Amino acid sequence: MGLIEWDDALYSVEIKEFDEHHKKILHFINDLHKAMMEGRGKDVMSDIFVELSDYTHYHFQAEEREMLDKNYPEYANHKQQHDMLMRQLIELINDYDNGRKEVSIETFRFLKEWLFNHIQVADKEYTPFLRKQ
Ligand SMILES: [Fe+2]
Repeated sequence: MGLIEWDDALYSVEIKEFDEHHKKILHFINDLHKAMMEGRGKDVMSDIFVELSDYTHYHFQAEEREMLDKNYPEYANHKQQHDMLMRQLIELINDYDNGRKEVSIETFRFLKEWLFNHIQVADKEYTPFLRKQ
C-alpha cells in the first residue's frame, strides 16, 4: 500500500472548508507513511502523530460547531462518532509511544479506513443539510 490519493469523486463532502480539512488530515497520514519508508526515527513519527491528532481534533470541533449552528438533527450521533475516532487515534498513538506497536502498513490501512469510512458515510450524510442553509 502506497500513499493515499485524494479523489473528489469519492471523498468530497462538497463543502470546501471541510474538504480542505480532510485533505490536510490525509496529508499527515501520508507524511507518516513517508517517514516510515525513509526509516525516520521515533521523534519524527511522534511529531507527525501530534500534528495529526491536534489537527483532527480541531477539524472535528469545526464540523460540530457548524452542525450545532444549523441544528443538524444527527449532531449527537455524529459527535459520538468523532469521540470514538479520537479515542481510537489516541490509543494508537499511546501504543506507539509505549513501544507496544510499530508504525507499519497495518497502521496506514487502519488510518485510511479510520478517516475515509467516516467521511464516506457519516460526513457525506450532512452535505445536503449543511449546504442548503
Ligand atoms: Fe465528521
